[in-house]
Amino acid sequence: MLMLNTVNDPFQLSHVACFGRTLREYVEMFNLDLDGLKGKSVLDCASGPASFTAQAHRREINVVACDPIYSLPIDQIMLNAQRDIPACIRETQRHRELFERNSNSEDVDFLEEKLKALSLFADDYKKLDACKRYITASFPHMPFFDESFDIVLCANLLFLYSDVETGGILETSDFDYLFHHRALHEMLRIAKEEVRIYPVVGPNKERHPFIDELLEDKSFAQYDMQFESVQMKDIKGATQMLRIFKI
Ligand SMILES: C[S@@+](CC[C@H](N)C(=O)[O-])C[C@H]1O[C@@H](n2cnc3c(N)ncnc32)[C@H](O)[C@@H]1O
Repeated sequence: MLMLNTVNDPFQLSHVACFGRTLREYVEMFNLDLDGLKGKSVLDCASGPASFTAQAHRREINVVACDPIYSLPIDQIMLNAQRDIPACIRETQRHRELFERNSNSEDVDFLEEKLKALSLFADDYKKLDACKRYITASFPHMPFFDESFDIVLCANLLFLYSDVETGGILETSDFDYLFHHRALHEMLRIAKEEVRIYPVVGPNKERHPFIDELLEDKSFAQYDMQFESVQMKDIKGATQMLRIFKI
């Protein structure tokens, strides 16, 4: 039987939130070795207003970000993020038991980190050459050739934004098993070496049920799927990423 996050009053959002994390948080979610990534090509899928691309680019890592919101002007992205960041914090305050953060001062730190990400993202997004780094794209079909990037990352979209009944956080979600199956095949098509996904649990702290289905799916049998512990501390129990190696 599937355990819901909090049975009668779940943590839930009405839509995929427009907020993004910093390079420091990406390092923690994905165990990134920034020196080792120098000269590598990285695709950050569903990157939203995260500052990973802007900050990694400055460190000579060849990162491209993709997200449907890049069809929007920067002012609209800022407005969406300024609406969604506080809304997410309010929802976490209603469900302290599900998060590592448990005080208002930690919420302020969280808010400041997200605003820092937003500001670094916005500065980079406004640059003349930003169209090389920020590509409008949505799962399940991405506009990239096969094996275009050494590593493909995806944080805080897959599994998490399935519906509450399935173990995610959306009231209702189009991200069903088939969507995840297609999205994963798409990331593996684009990646030369590996795909990393974080988190692999929803707020119920259980491994998301779609993952077991993916692990058993014969169409992924040629890939090596491994779970690896990470440093990130936000959702309780979200202590692992999924790494899928092509070679
Ligand atoms: C919560 S944000 C995560 C941003 C970033 N990865 C991070 O962890 O900070 C989720 C992002 O997924 C994007 N998104 C929504 N539907 C998508 C889809 N079908 N394909 C790709 N990205 C999508 C949203 O626009 C949003 O920017």
